[in-house]
Amino acid sequence: MHILHLDSSIQGAGSASRTLTKAVVANLLDQHPGAAVTYHDLVEEAVPHGPIGAGFRPLAFDVSDEATRREYARSDALVGEFLASDIIVVGAPMYNFSLASQLKAWLDRVIQPGKTFRYTENGPIGLAAGKKVFIVSTRGGSYLSGPLATMDFQESYLRTAFGFIGIKDLDFIRAENMSRGDDARANSMNSALEAVSPLVARMAA
Ligand SMILES: Cc1cc2nc3c(=O)[nH]c(=O)nc-3n(C[C@H](O)[C@H](O)[C@H](O)COP(=O)(O)O)c2cc1C
Repeated sequence: MHILHLDSSIQGAGSASRTLTKAVVANLLDQHPGAAVTYHDLVEEAVPHGPIGAGFRPLAFDVSDEATRREYARSDALVGEFLASDIIVVGAPMYNFSLASQLKAWLDRVIQPGKTFRYTENGPIGLAAGKKVFIVSTRGGSYLSGPLATMDFQESYLRTAFGFIGIKDLDFIRAENMSRGDDARANSMNSALEAVSPLVARMAA
C-alpha cells in the first residue's frame, strides 16, 4: 500500500492542517504498518507555477528548451507518483476562500489528459478511480452553512477536481473557526483529531 502525504500550509509549525494530516497518516500506519509513505511539503519544495501543462497538453510556445523539458519530467514524476498511490492525504487550508496556491500548482500537474482523465465522445472520464482521499480542511470561519457557505471555493473545488479524475471516495477532516479565538480553535482541533481514528477505521473495515 502506498500513501501520498501532502502539506500545503504556509503557517509552518503552527499549522492546524499539518497537525491533522500527521494524525491521519499515523492512524493509517497503525492500520497498515507495512505501507510506504511519500511526503511532500508543497511549501518547502514548491511545484513551480510556470508551465503547468508541461508534459501532456499541447502548449502555444516552444517546448524544446532545457527548462521546459525539466518541467515535463517533473510533471511526469508527480503524476506517476500520484497514480502509484492508494491513499492520498491532503492538507488543504482555506486561503482567501480557496486553496493554497502551492496545492493548486500540484493539482495542475496531476490533472492531465491521457494520464488522470481522458476525453471521450461522451465527455471527459476520470482515470484515477479506486483511490481514497482524506482531505484535511482548515479554515478561519465556518462555511458549512449560513452566509459564508457560498464562498467556499476550497472544499467544493477539491471535490470537483478529484471527482473529475474519477475519485469519489473523499473524506473530509475539518477544523473550522480557527480564527475565532483560542477556545474555538482548541475545540475544533480536538473534534477534528477525534474524528480521525473512526474515519480511518471505517476505511479499513
Ligand atoms: C493568507 C491567509 C488567508 C486566509 N483566508 C481565509 C479565508 O478566506 N477564509 C477563512 O475562513 N480563513 C482564512 N484564513 C484562515 C485560515 O484558514 C486558518 O488560519 C487555518 O488554520 C489555515 O490552516 P493552517 O493553520 O494549516 O495554515 C486565512 C489565513 C491565511 C494565512
